[in-house]
Amino acid sequence: MVILNMGCPPGLRSLSLFFLSGAASASVLQQRDPVPAGYVAAPYYPTPYGGWADDWSASYESAIKLVSQMTLAEKVNITAGTGIYMLQGRCVGNTGSVPRLGLPSLCLQDGPLGVRTTDNITAFPAGISTGATFNKDLMYERGVAIGEEFKGKGANFYLGPSVGALGRKPRGGRNWEGFGSDPVLQAIAGAETIKGVQEQGVIATLKHLIGNEQELYRMYNPLQQAYSANIDDRTLHEIYLWPFAQGVKTGVGSIMASYNAINGSAASQNAYIINGLLKDELGFQGLVMTDWLAQISGVGSALAGLDMSMPGDTIGNSVPLFGYSNWMYELTRSVLNGSVPVDRINDMATRVVATWYQLGQDKDYPPPNFSSNTADPEGPLYPGALISPRGVVNEYVNVQGDHKIIAKQVAQEAVTLLKNNGSFLPLSTKAPLFVFGTDAQADPQGINSCTDKTCNRGLLGMGWGSGSANYPYLDDPISSLKRKAANVTYYATDSFPSVAAPSSNDVAIVFISSDSGENSYTVENNHGDRDADGLKAWHNGDTLVQKAAEKYSNVVVVVHTVGPIIMEPWINLPSVKAVLVAHLPGQEAGDSLTELIFGEASPSGHLPYSIPVSEDDYPDSVSLVATPLSQTQDTYSEGLYIDYRHLNKANIKPRFAFGHGLSYASFHFSNATLTRVTPLSEVPPPRPSKPASPVAGLNTTLPAAAEAYFPDGFDRIWRYLYSWLPSGEADAAHEIGAAGSKTYPYPAGYSATQKPASAQPPAGGASGGNPALWDTAYALTLTVTNTAASGTTPGKAVAQAYVQFPASSSSAFDTPVIQLRDFAKTGAALAPGQSAQLSLSFTRRDLSVWDTVRQNWVVPEPAGRYSLWVGGASDDLPVVCYSDTLVCEVDVTGPV
Ligand code: NOJ
Repeated sequence: MVILNMGCPPGLRSLSLFFLSGAASASVLQQRDPVPAGYVAAPYYPTPYGGWADDWSASYESAIKLVSQMTLAEKVNITAGTGIYMLQGRCVGNTGSVPRLGLPSLCLQDGPLGVRTTDNITAFPAGISTGATFNKDLMYERGVAIGEEFKGKGANFYLGPSVGALGRKPRGGRNWEGFGSDPVLQAIAGAETIKGVQEQGVIATLKHLIGNEQELYRMYNPLQQAYSANIDDRTLHEIYLWPFAQGVKTGVGSIMASYNAINGSAASQNAYIINGLLKDELGFQGLVMTDWLAQISGVGSALAGLDMSMPGDTIGNSVPLFGYSNWMYELTRSVLNGSVPVDRINDMATRVVATWYQLGQDKDYPPPNFSSNTADPEGPLYPGALISPRGVVNEYVNVQGDHKIIAKQVAQEAVTLLKNNGSFLPLSTKAPLFVFGTDAQADPQGINSCTDKTCNRGLLGMGWGSGSANYPYLDDPISSLKRKAANVTYYATDSFPSVAAPSSNDVAIVFISSDSGENSYTVENNHGDRDADGLKAWHNGDTLVQKAAEKYSNVVVVVHTVGPIIMEPWINLPSVKAVLVAHLPGQEAGDSLTELIFGEASPSGHLPYSIPVSEDDYPDSVSLVATPLSQTQDTYSEGLYIDYRHLNKANIKPRFAFGHGLSYASFHFSNATLTRVTPLSEVPPPRPSKPASPVAGLNTTLPAAAEAYFPDGFDRIWRYLYSWLPSGEADAAHEIGAAGSKTYPYPAGYSATQKPASAQPPAGGASGGNPALWDTAYALTLTVTNTAASGTTPGKAVAQAYVQFPASSSSAFDTPVIQLRDFAKTGAALAPGQSAQLSLSFTRRDLSVWDTVRQNWVVPEPAGRYSLWVGGASDDLPVVCYSDTLVCEVDVTGPV
């Protein structure tokens, strides 16, 4: 066997041998527990060409014209980053460019809630807050504002939204970057975000595909394999892939693979996931990138469908950050020597260029004007090179516009009122207020004093890691309370201080928090996941509440949190009158909250996850797992049954159910009507046949070695990743390729021939899969009326729609009792006596299960009785409509 792709830069062979011997001893440690039986990442080859779906055809036409003029080195150059901290330290990832043909380096930048590591931006509320609004319009408008800011900073890619982690593990570190522990909430919020962002011309990057549900051991490194998320076919389709399918349907330009393995195969080279599910079944036409430093093979990942390696350097199973790459010069070599078929590099390059055209970035897209590396105006132009010329790197462009308005609206509509005994809230601004907890104030050491928010000091407005952003300012709750209320005393401590004996009118407001983030940092012993603190409030928050409740007879608890916390230590104490979960509000944490406390608006957020009585109420299989020095097996044995799907099945009453959220208003639903829109058959109409791809027309003859030569006299920068090879190395590779003596050990099941129509997945056929899956089967409308007494604060109502499958089919398919399928929120707050109409819909996919034998979505009983439940929370569903009779009933008792 000739090892053709050793991950060593041109001219550094001897150095690489030294490191390879190190790697050999490390490999002794690369044990792995076997992936359990039944969890399979079957070979799926080759990568289906892009360019056949109608919604991308114009962009592919332009891309083909450009790519057909490119040399091999030019094609390769746009498929990877130029190395960590290169190109003025501009962005977290920077591709190579093709200046000859007008294709610039593309800037890839975090993160989901705003432009990371820069200034003059908006720190929007996190995904988890956005999910809690249950407001599609706001989800979209936040996306528009984020898109404007990324474009204003000159970032071509928005590395968001995040819909994986989906929220399977309550302790999972990055759940807060996404929208809540339900695939439909993730899918709708993700799609609205993508729409908003991409309408501004920015390429959204839906991440992380897939199974990145915990942070511990997420990543391959020379000593440790990443964990394997073992997910069965049905669960994959009905839960974890669901929001990705919706993202592809919405036209997302790019998708980021996760760090971990899925069913034993690393996500960035998992042919089953990328070639099979994403590019064939879901018909994805854009590009697939790695997570940062996640790539662990060169040829293998290319064959498995990866299109872009970020930031270009190796780490996964090799020597990190010495200017090595699995692609760039190595991909050039691998094409020349015949290991990577020419049609694969053609397809990779075309996908990148087509995405650029699809978002209109060929027309006057601004170049990046900021540096992720420094806040100084000038700095090294190649910070990764250590020795570098200097120049202007920061232009401090202000991209905020009036986005604080939308940021505040999201923060406010997210706030979830869990408890309000005796309508204790809203408070009068005249009430004597005693405020406890450091979470009420901005970090006294500076609002951005911890890099990437790697401390929980002061207000918790976002979690930590690459999903964070700098605050331009922070409207903290204590300043806002002091602005609005006459009589506020603040104790900036998390230990209950000694206080004067309260009068019965005194109100204590206690701020507590729970944080998590990315595994690249450890905060107060939590390694990204909440492994140390669990689901308890940090900094002895429970004791703070308990002590306040001993002293004061009126206590309001405000929680800033990444996810569920256990509230049992204090939730039923008689003096705890009200509880507000303010999630992660970003920069607008103050007025967004206090306007609710004082009744200028009514809370309208709903929980995007359940809050159980005890952590033991979750299935054991959703605990964090770790088997150091082996490959940790994270097996999804609970299947579909996460969060409320599990609690309902196990008959466990949570403290607060998924979707719960009170208002100062009282809502009554009436006048429900159900209409059949598209008649259902058991299996969808056959998928459309797949038209030929224009990528097939690109030249596939072995490129000349000269297409890969370094230009004469080229002055190389250390650690910069180039796609060129020294001429001798290019010639040697070409000789092997030209001889046709391919010796690359192709994976079992490998084929280079595009699949014939007969072998194409029945569930595919267009962007997002068979278009029939997206047909509306039933439309439901209903009236919601605010029945509160006049004089109470108006409020926005949310209707959540859940499906219950026909009894017989649900047992045949073992389907959760109820599953969220749609939601709607009133556009305006309803005053007492006011009504509004809300519309909800159910698609074919919503009423289907994934049939693992037929490999298709199946409506188990098209004429059977689907109960379509509507209400304000998963445990408060007073409306039901039946799919068979189209009869609706109101004021009924819900199914759970
Ligand atoms: C790793 C994170 O998992 C990913 O979400 C992020 O976009 C990249 N790092 C780049 O910072």
